[in-house]
Order: sequence, then C-alpha cells, then structure tokens
Amino acid sequence: MILIIDFGSQFNQLIARRVRECGVYCNIEPPTVSLERIRELDPQGIVLSGGPSSIYAADSPRMDPGVFDLGLPVLGICYGMQFMVDTLGGEVRKSQKREYGFAELRIQHTDPLFKDVPDRNTVWMSHGDSISRVPQGFAVTADTENTPVAAAADYGRRFYGLQFHPEVVHTPKGKTMLRNFLFDVCGCKRNWTMKAFARRAIADIRRQVGDRKVILGLSGGVDSSVTAMLIHRAIGHQLTCIFVDNGLLRMDEARKLKKTFKDHLQINIRFVNARSLFLKALAKVSEPERKRKIIGKRFMEVFEAEARKIEGADFLAQGTLYPDVIESRSAFGGPSAVIKSHHNVGGLPKRMKLKLIEPLQYLFKDEVRKLGKQLGLDPELVWRQPFPGPGLAIRVIGEVSERRLNILREVDHVLVEEIKAAGYYRKLWQSFAVLLPIKSVGIMGDSRTYEHIVAIRAVTSKDAMTADWARLPHDLLGRISNRIINEVRGVNRVVYDISSKPPSTIEWE
Ligand code: XMP
Repeated sequence: MILIIDFGSQFNQLIARRVRECGVYCNIEPPTVSLERIRELDPQGIVLSGGPSSIYAADSPRMDPGVFDLGLPVLGICYGMQFMVDTLGGEVRKSQKREYGFAELRIQHTDPLFKDVPDRNTVWMSHGDSISRVPQGFAVTADTENTPVAAAADYGRRFYGLQFHPEVVHTPKGKTMLRNFLFDVCGCKRNWTMKAFARRAIADIRRQVGDRKVILGLSGGVDSSVTAMLIHRAIGHQLTCIFVDNGLLRMDEARKLKKTFKDHLQINIRFVNARSLFLKALAKVSEPERKRKIIGKRFMEVFEAEARKIEGADFLAQGTLYPDVIESRSAFGGPSAVIKSHHNVGGLPKRMKLKLIEPLQYLFKDEVRKLGKQLGLDPELVWRQPFPGPGLAIRVIGEVSERRLNILREVDHVLVEEIKAAGYYRKLWQSFAVLLPIKSVGIMGDSRTYEHIVAIRAVTSKDAMTADWARLPHDLLGRISNRIINEVRGVNRVVYDISSKPPSTIEWE
C-alpha cells in the first residue's frame, strides 16, 4: 500500500485515483499523522501531495521530519517536493509570481521515474515558490524554461521530487511516472482488485458485527444498494434494511426495489409507506430550502420510528464514500477525521446509541460500481444516475401536489426510456425533467391548449462540483419532446436547459 500525505492540494484525490488505477491500494492521511501510525500502516512508499501554501507561510502544513528516516521511498509533488527540499537542507526561493499551465519538461538524467518517458514532454505546473538549491545527495533530473529544478532525486535514499503535477491529465506521461514510482521504486504489486476488497470487507464486517444486528437505510441508489449487498453477504439476516417511500420517487421505483432486494436477493427489508405524511407536510410549500428541511426532518422521524421496532440493533450502516471522508476533514486536519453524516440520519447513531459501519468508506464512486458488479448487483442499479434525497419534490418547481408529481413521473419515465434507448444513460451524470410552475398556450388537433411546460436537464460531470450541459443530438431531443407532448396529458411544451454549473446548479431547486 501507498500512503499519500494530504497537504491540501485540490488534486490529492486524483493522486489516490491514479494509484488505485494502477491496482495498488492507497490511503490519504493528513500531515499530522504520527510516525507510529505510518509504521502501523506499513506502506511501501509515501507520496507527499501538493498544496496551496508557501513553505514560508507561518501556518504552512508540515509533518514530522522523521518521515525521511523511515527508510521508505518518498515522492514529493509540488508543495510536497518543496517541503522535502526545505526539510532536508535545500533551498526554496520565495516568489511573488505563480507559474501556471503547460511547460516543456527537459529530462537530463536517466531517472527511474522517467522510464518510458520521452526526453522532452509536456507537464502541467501550478506553483509559486521554486527550488533554488537541492539538498545534499540530490541531483537535478529535469528542468523547464522557467523552472531550473523541475525534478530532482536522491537515488540512494529513494527520494524523488516533481515540481509539476503528474496526477493531472494535462501531464500526459504523468501516469507513467507514477507507475514507475509504484512498481520500480517501491516494488508494489498489483493486488488491489474489487474481488480482494470484497473478500476483506466481508471478513471485517463479520468480525466487527459478530452475532449482533445492523440497520441500513436503503434508498435504491448505488451506494446504499452495494452497502446492503456487502453486509448481507457477510451476515445475512442479521441485516435489516429500511426503505421509506416518501411519495417523491420515480415511477415504479418502490416496486422494482422490492423485487430486486426482497424477492431476488432475499435481503430483509421493511417498506414504510409514508407517502401521505410527506405530501401533507409539503402542502403549500414552495420555497426550495423549506422543502428540503421538511423532507429531511420527516425522513429522520419515520426512519427512527421504524428503526426502534428492530430490537437489539447495535449498528447503523451507511454508504459513505471516500471523497466524503476526505472532504469532511479540514485540509490540514487532525487525525480524528469526522466523517460526514449522510442520508439524513446523521443524528441517529448518537440518539439510538448505534455504532456506525461504513464499508465503502475507502472507495471512489467508480470503484463502488465495480464492486456492485463483482457482487452481482443488477446492472440497472449499478449504473443508476444519482437521485437527490428530496426526490421529485425539488423537480416540481413551486408547490408539490400528487397530480403534479404524477405528471412529472410520466415525463421522467419517457425521458429515461429514450435516453437509455439512445445509449446515453451511462454517459450522462444525470438526465431528468423539471416541471415548471407556469403554463403556456399550445394547439392540439383543432383546439387551443393551456398546459404545463417541462424542462429537460442532461449534464455531464465527474463529481457534480462542476457540470456541463450535454450536447444531445437534436433528433434525440426531438423524439423526447414529441413523445412527452403526445403521451403525457397536461404537458404541451418541452424546453432544453443549456446552462452549465457554475453558475447554474444541476437541480433547479
Ligand atoms: P446541484 O443542484 O447542487 O446538485 O448542482 C449537485 C448534485 O447533488 C444532488 N442533490 C442532492 N442530493 N439531497 C441529495 O441527496 C439534496 O438535497 C440534493 N440537492 C442536489 C443533485 O442531484 C446533483 O447530483
């Protein structure tokens, strides 16, 4: 395994992804991690990430310099390299100017990191300060026009530094360099597979839970579904899932879920029909944040009431993913990382004295999908697009009513059918419809109509932080519009949302 020290770079998750793509397991820890903890983790190598600070800033993140006495290979990237150079007696020159963007790397040495990398290649820079003198034992191995020390290495101690970012796609040979570090320098093996992960996770869950009981809030999304399958594999009927039907779901959603989980996989699951409760609470509410609060509060109440019926439960399982874990600790945070409370049941473990169990907390979304596939989860669930907790309530703009929800359900059904038929469903982060609170005039046969407008939203995204509107083919948009207007009563106009995030958001509310 590889240990990545998080000095606060926005790219540190990318480093972890690249390492895992190479089939090597890695952990990200804050710089405050103790040497004991590092020894306990027993990594084969350490990567010091980049970060936004200057090594000269009073509050710049630093770690125990003893990290360089562990006898382990170290790769410092950007700030991580500067920290290494500064700590080992080299010199970092303070600079007011940032170097940002592409640069041509000129390799001067046959550095093992540069195996299969051409002598001239493009790299991506983002740094302020620069290294002016390398520590004793180091050699400068590459430069660029503006950066005399773009790479340096101490082959004896197996310390390597790169001033540029090998983890971003803008450094085309970056992955080769990381691979060289992992396999040639650290001697890692490709043993991080979902099969191995599942085996280990199942054994861990068995050990942790013993003969006690676990509760899980199942939403039907990929994270909670995979969590349910994994725990069910480990402890069978000691797991009970709770599914709350809040009346804000898509067409047939509860029925399909029941078929998959109860009938097919024989997982214990309790369905709670709370449709009228949610609808009543939402009556006459149109402000988006109020809708969210009402839904979150009701969900919590319904879930807790149901959970209390399960006698002797000791654990609450959640589908927390690795990015949530990393994001929930401050950039230079302490070792006691607080894990973000999820799925609107954040307060529950404390109130009910439940222990948390989060078997996906070291995985990225695409790894969860791979794991789901490995566990035999229905591909339809594995590839499900994200769906917000407040459901269709935030896609019926303005007041939510059963009638308006039904219109949107039918529209959404047609839309998903067409998107899937055209082979776009998996390529899009999300594709959905929004029912607008205004009507427009149309003509049907010989009569004038005055009916609802729906907006179609389809976006591509990697992580929902930013998103671009999808350039769907006009023919596909035409088919979607025709079918909706012809098949869904109450809708006479369809528009397509061509805004990106930022400045818009993905959802309309
Ligand atoms: P926005 O609209 O903020 O959405 O660009 C980003 C992602 O988050 C989802 N989303 C939610 N998910 N509860 C959720 O569980 C919510 O209240 C919520 N609001 C937005 C949205 O679908 C998108 O994937």
